[in-house]
Amino acid sequence: MFTISPRASSSLYTETSVTFVASGMSSTALFSSNPSSPSSPTGRLTMVGAGPGDPNLLTVAALHSISDPEALVISDRLVSQEILDLVKGEVRVANKSPGCADKAQNEIYTWCLGGLAEGKHVVRLKIGDPFVFGRGGEEVLKFRGMGVEPKVIPGVSAVFAAPLLGGIPVTHRGVANQVVMCTGYGREGTSPDLIKYHPDQTVVFVMAVGRLRELSRKLISMAGYPPDTPVAIVEQAGNPGQRTIRGNLVDIADKAERENVKPPSTIVVGDTHIYAEDMTDEMCSSAITISQEAFQMNVTKGKVYATIAAHIRAGFDKSFGRGWNCVVGRSFGAFVTHEIKTYMYFTVVPGVYILLWKA
Ligand SMILES: C[S@@+](CC[C@H](N)C(=O)[O-])C[C@H]1O[C@@H](n2cnc3c(N)ncnc32)[C@H](O)[C@@H]1O
Repeated sequence: MFTISPRASSSLYTETSVTFVASGMSSTALFSSNPSSPSSPTGRLTMVGAGPGDPNLLTVAALHSISDPEALVISDRLVSQEILDLVKGEVRVANKSPGCADKAQNEIYTWCLGGLAEGKHVVRLKIGDPFVFGRGGEEVLKFRGMGVEPKVIPGVSAVFAAPLLGGIPVTHRGVANQVVMCTGYGREGTSPDLIKYHPDQTVVFVMAVGRLRELSRKLISMAGYPPDTPVAIVEQAGNPGQRTIRGNLVDIADKAERENVKPPSTIVVGDTHIYAEDMTDEMCSSAITISQEAFQMNVTKGKVYATIAAHIRAGFDKSFGRGWNCVVGRSFGAFVTHEIKTYMYFTVVPGVYILLWKA
């Protein structure tokens, strides 16, 4: 049970109360689950991660909270309608559109404190995971500064769910063994520092579609990324309008513009394997077996990649009908476009990639 005291509610928007809490504790203590006990218990506050939008990706704890008939749910604008439809009590949606985020944030605090003062179970519903680029930590400090200790329920973050739903593993043995998550926008619209290129790394960007052109350019010119590094944009992951746009650092901004990509979208940069949905499990495992065979037979004889590709294509035509194409090379993100629905991008030899597709 988390409560608010009358003293705390009177110091509603004083930044000093937040600063006091933030500077008076170690970072470990900031998020301790053992707050000091407030004096006048009234309502309680639960901060809930809603996941990327599909109600099936809510945690059981999240579902319990939002379907509490007594709850006042204060939701972020990007939470999907399907999830809001599960709310049994009252729901209010914050209008956090660009340009009025601070005003909306203050409105959120007012709504929450109003509900708590009335003794309600206030559910602060946030997209994804509350503590991943969601101001969840800031809100906890703010509420704590007001004398309220929220219970926090984690959510499935778009950082990991969006790539997966778009068919992209963020790590893959032999291809990527590190994942970095970044935002496209820092505080007050600044551009965060870019992390240097590392071939074994996948970088996932959120809140970055509006900056995609600048970001791609900077990744090449300032962070050492090869221009043909594969990039995918997963838009509306887990929602009915989900789609994935693929390209590389040179062409992805044009493609995004042409396809009119909009937030919420997550951008995945790196060499991780990309499996298209249309490839069956049997096709995927055959592709690996045939390719291993092709490399064994041809590399020992000193044959070039084109011969290996021809071997793989012939093997696939034989097993799955004619019409397959294959290229083998060091990197060719440019070939991976969203127009191709049936393909597999993979490797059986470190650093050498195989793109197998049916046009
Ligand atoms: C303010 S951040 C919040 C991230 C959230 N806390 C999380 O853990 O997923 C919002 C960004 O998350 C990403 N995002 C959230 N939901 C998404 C979805 N359904 N599909 C793709 N990206 C999504 C987008 O990059 C969006 O701009």
